[in-house]
Order: sequence, then C-alpha cells, then structure tokens
Amino acid sequence: MASNTVFFCKECGYESAKWLGKCPGCNSWNSFVEEKINKKSSSKSSKGYSSTFSNVSTVKKLNDIVVTKEIRLDTGYDELNRVFGGGIVEGSLNLIGGEPGIGKSTLIMQVCSKLAKVGAVLYISGEESETQVKLRADRLKVSSDNILFYNETNIDSIEDKIEEISPKFCIVDSIQTMYDEEISSTPGSISQVKEVTARLMYQAKRKKITTIVIGHVTKDGVIAGPRILEHMVDTVIYIEGERFLSHRIVRGVKNRFGSTNEIGIFDMKDEGMVEVKNMSDIFLTKSDKNLPGTAIVATVEGTSTILMEVQALTTHSYYNMPRRVANGIDINRLNMLIAVLEKRCKLSLSTQDIYVNVIGGMRVDEPAVDLSIAMAIYSSYKNIAIDPQTVFLGEIGLTGEIRNITNFEKRIKEISKLGYNKIYTNKKQIGSLKGKVEAELIGVSSIDEAINKIGY
Ligand SMILES: Nc1ncnc2c1ncn2[C@@H]1O[C@H](COP(=O)(O)OP(=O)(O)OP(=O)(O)O)[C@@H](O)[C@H]1O
Ligand SMILES: [Mg+2]
Repeated sequence: MASNTVFFCKECGYESAKWLGKCPGCNSWNSFVEEKINKKSSSKSSKGYSSTFSNVSTVKKLNDIVVTKEIRLDTGYDELNRVFGGGIVEGSLNLIGGEPGIGKSTLIMQVCSKLAKVGAVLYISGEESETQVKLRADRLKVSSDNILFYNETNIDSIEDKIEEISPKFCIVDSIQTMYDEEISSTPGSISQVKEVTARLMYQAKRKKITTIVIGHVTKDGVIAGPRILEHMVDTVIYIEGERFLSHRIVRGVKNRFGSTNEIGIFDMKDEGMVEVKNMSDIFLTKSDKNLPGTAIVATVEGTSTILMEVQALTTHSYYNMPRRVANGIDINRLNMLIAVLEKRCKLSLSTQDIYVNVIGGMRVDEPAVDLSIAMAIYSSYKNIAIDPQTVFLGEIGLTGEIRNITNFEKRIKEISKLGYNKIYTNKKQIGSLKGKVEAELIGVSSIDEAINKIGY
C-alpha cells in the first residue's frame, strides 16, 4: 500500500499529479486541492466500475438488447414526481443537493413515508442521531414499520447492512459524512465522495435498490461539492430557496430518464414541506392598488407555466456611473434593455439608477420576460401604474422589435385561465388565437409601439 498525493479540482473532480492554477477540465481557477490517497490495488469499487450493471459484461448488438420499460415509483408528491420525470425510477441513484438547512432531510423523510408502502427503506444517517431523526419523523407525522434507521458512516458496514437487509430503498444522509477506510483523506474530500458514491452505485444497479443520496452544496465550495457526483448519478435535483422566504424550488439539474427543465414548488411549514399547486400564487403580489413599476409576465419552466411579477425602480442617480441592480434576471440582459429603451423610446435613463427584481426569489433566464422588464422600467420612470390585469409577453431585439417566443399558445391560455384580461404580445404570433381566448390580445411589433398603445 503506497501513500500518494493527488490534486483534485473541487469543481469538476479533474485529477492531477501536481498542483495547477487553472483546471484543464473545467477552466476554473484556483480550484485544486491536495489529497492523500492510499493506492490499494484491490480497491473495491475498481472492480465494480467495469461491471456495475451485470456480473458478467459481454459485447452485444444494440438491436439485440431487450429493454423492459423502467418502473417508476410515486414519491407521494406530484411536484416532485414531475421533477423526477414522472416518479422515481426503480434501481436509480439519485442525488438531492442543497445548501445547509434548506430542507433536504425533511423532504426525503416525507418521501420515505410513501416509499415505505412499496418496500423496506433503509435510512442511513451520518449526520444526525436516532433521536434527532425520530423527532423529525414525529414532527412530519411519518410512521412506518418499513423504515429502518441505521446510524453509520463507514461504507463497508453500510454495504454489509444492505447485503443483509436487501432493502428496496436506501437513503444516504449525507454523502459528505460517509467514508471508505482504505482512503486516508477525510470524509467529504473528493476522493472519499467519489469512492463512496461509486460503491453505492454498484449496490444500486446490482441489486436494483433505489437510492437517494443527500449532498451539501456550500457557497464557497470548501467541502467537495456534489458537482463531482453529478457525473456519476442518474438524477440530480437541487432544492433552492431564499433564507427568509418559506417556499422552496425543487429543480431537476440532470435526469437520465426525463427532461431537466422541470421545477416543483414546496412551502416549508412546521408540519414539513407542503406542495404548492398553483405556482403563480407565490410569485404575484396581487395588490389591489395599482403601483408604478410592476409588470406581469408568464414564464415556462418545463411543463409548468408560472405567472410572475417583475418590479423596477428608477431613481435619480447621484453617481457618475448610475447603478444597475438585477435580482432574478441577468444583469447584461437588463443593460441591453435599458439601452434599447434609451435609443428607441427616447427615455433618458443614463441619469437614473435602475433596480429590477423578480418577486419570490425566482430566477428567470428566458428572453420572453424582456417586454415585461421594459414595461416595468417605463412604468417606474413615468411613475404611472400599469393596469394590474395586464400581462406582457415578448422578447425584445436590439432594434426594439418584439420577437417570437416559445410555448406561445400555452402561456396565453394559462394567462387567460387565471383571469387576466389584456395581453400585450408579438403581433405576428397572435394569428389564429385571436378571439379564441377570453383575454384581449394586443399585438405589437416593437417596444415603442407597446408604449404608444398602452397610452400612458
Ligand atoms: N421544529 C421545527 N419546526 C418547524 N420547522 C423546523 C423545525 N425544525 C426544523 N425546521 C425547519 O427545517 C429546516 C431544516 O430542515 P432540514 O434539516 O431538512 O434541512 P437540511 O437541508 O437537511 O439541512 P442540513 O444541511 O443541516 O442537513 C430548518 O431550516 C427549519 O426551517
Ligand atoms: Mg439534513
């Protein structure tokens, strides 16, 4: 057994014999960390890597491979099933990531309650004592004889226990606390995390154990983040949320069995995570008063259409370079829209500080929100409120033209269903939809036309 020093990139797991300033794998700077590993030729996972899926691997013609449709299991929450691509796939290895305290253990404990109806769940915790886990289960009203608790961090003991019990489900909370004795680096280090995950993957695929691994993500990335794991697992789901807001966004980041642009929304309450069925509820202020600087838009995340409120504030600037602050949208996109408004609509925004915020801590990257951002800025600048029953949909080009957006019909129908009565949108896309929805569709071909038509 020879002890060896290896350098890993903490962003992507790239391995190097010497320290490097810039990672050749992912181009990030100053991301290499030193780790001592004991190179044992008999490392358990090394034999597992080659034959993870079957004991004897043979070469087959692709056409000869017979597939049975994957079995999907209900997690008990439609919001989560959708993110998994229609339920969690039997025998898959899934990673749930998120910042400390966001609610990972809570959500998974609630899911266990449903999974336990199908088969035995082995809940392995390396972070919390049995009392802590039991207290949480009681608080969440999770009770089942099929949930087995095991307080362990050594992967050898865990493997033995899995072998002994043969559970249908395995929960590992969290991957950063698990370790392999044969590797001398500390739990949570890149080599440990990689090795432990590889061994869990081996178990999951070989014995068809549906495994959920919880992983911490730290903002500064000190602990080996689950980034490295993302390559190894089948599904990666992140729980996001603002510290001071109660709702949590469950987002699919990687999915080998479905689409990755789905999100699900939960509300963190005393009794646990509660599904939010009508997503638009939390992103709209629904104020009775008309307030200058707000505009509503319909965004699409996977199969969900969510109505959101964009707020803007323009104030006289006391700086040489006016401030531009963007929360929930890309700052470059904001700068571009300001430039278009200055040039095409003759608004003198260069003397104004401009703040833009998407309500509810949501991040929107799609260009369909452009028109609503521009209208919110215009509304604040002129200090005139836009009718709160109006929605804006459209991408804005550099010449000020309104461009086509995706999922047009779906958005229009959702807006209309929610009772909004005016939609300003791309003239060219309205076409056959005119008269078919209750909301009035107002076609515009440029940003200046939108401002003229709104008539404020
Ligand atoms: N007794 C309680 N009543 C209400 N809410 C609670 C209670 N205890 C914890 N919480 C909520 O649960 C959250 C922690 O949830 P949870 O332990 O599932 O998070 P986690 O992501 O697993 O955290 P960690 O990274 O520490 O493992 C807390 O931030 C808090 O909002
Ligand atoms: Mg936890």
